[in-house]
Amino acid sequence: MPATAASTQPALVFRQVAVGYTETPLLSGIDLHVEPGQVVTMLGGSGSGKTTLLRAATGQLLPMAGTVQVLGTDFAKASPAAVRAVRQRMGVLFQQGALFTDLTVFENVAFALREHTRMNETEIRERVLDRLQAVGLRAAAHLRTGEISGGMARRVALARAVVLDPELVLYDEPFAGLDPIAMGITAQLIRQLSDRLGCASLLITHDVPESFEISDRVYLIGKGRLHASGTPAELRASDDPYVRQFLEGLPDGPVAFQYPDSPAFQQWLARQPAAKGERP
Ligand SMILES: Nc1ncnc2c1ncn2[C@@H]1O[C@H](COP(=O)(O)OP(=O)(O)OP(=O)(O)O)[C@@H](O)[C@H]1O
Ligand SMILES: [Mg+2]
Repeated sequence: MPATAASTQPALVFRQVAVGYTETPLLSGIDLHVEPGQVVTMLGGSGSGKTTLLRAATGQLLPMAGTVQVLGTDFAKASPAAVRAVRQRMGVLFQQGALFTDLTVFENVAFALREHTRMNETEIRERVLDRLQAVGLRAAAHLRTGEISGGMARRVALARAVVLDPELVLYDEPFAGLDPIAMGITAQLIRQLSDRLGCASLLITHDVPESFEISDRVYLIGKGRLHASGTPAELRASDDPYVRQFLEGLPDGPVAFQYPDSPAFQQWLARQPAAKGERP
């Protein structure tokens, strides 16, 4: 397939952006560039304005200065219909990514497919189980969200963020509430999903080891501005005190990640529509 304009243009660009909620900006002079296929991390301490920047990238908040371009569109100049169209090409893992409590894990992930696509039940089942497999929760598909832990709920939210094959995924604190093992695997998963789907990923976190492991570029914000940007190796070599402050933590070793199979899952699975090729 020939390269299209959409596949070669940057996924997300911030140019001299200022954001905030009052007349005084919370952050200003922010430059950010995310190319298709890249995993880019925005690091900053709690309250530094990371989620606020994410809101600028989703168009929930318009910049006070500068420009934000998302998949080639400037939300400040786009029509509501154009904004909606761009949002459908994005996946977002919100920091407070609440799941629908009255739905199963499966239905939570399937929700956007039912809303925004014409996929049939077999296609939906394949896509949802594929994404649940990727986050280690295939065999938890039948559980209600009240029956899963907080960390599992994060992984379900992750599966949900990528279910529509987005071109750009924004992850706000994807490691929150995860144990060190699930954290490392989740980081690898974000990298793998990016590589497999060919999407761009912006990772918003204060977790250095996991994000450095998988990122092409890292940005560090604090005290109202951008302090550093570069490859993880460049940031590791930096003697900027802000940069140094973030470079600590230890990853852990591999332990079972997939939620264990069970008769309850198998019974649930048996009641699902047949997969492609299984039909007469
Ligand atoms: N809707 C809002 N209205 C007014 N102020 C807000 C709003 N949301 C956040 N703030 C303020 O903006 C600042 C930055 O908040 P933000 O949520 O962007 O930080 P953060 O870097 O994401 O922090 P954390 O790591 O704890 O998630 C905080 O002082 C916060 O109180
Ligand atoms: Mg936040």
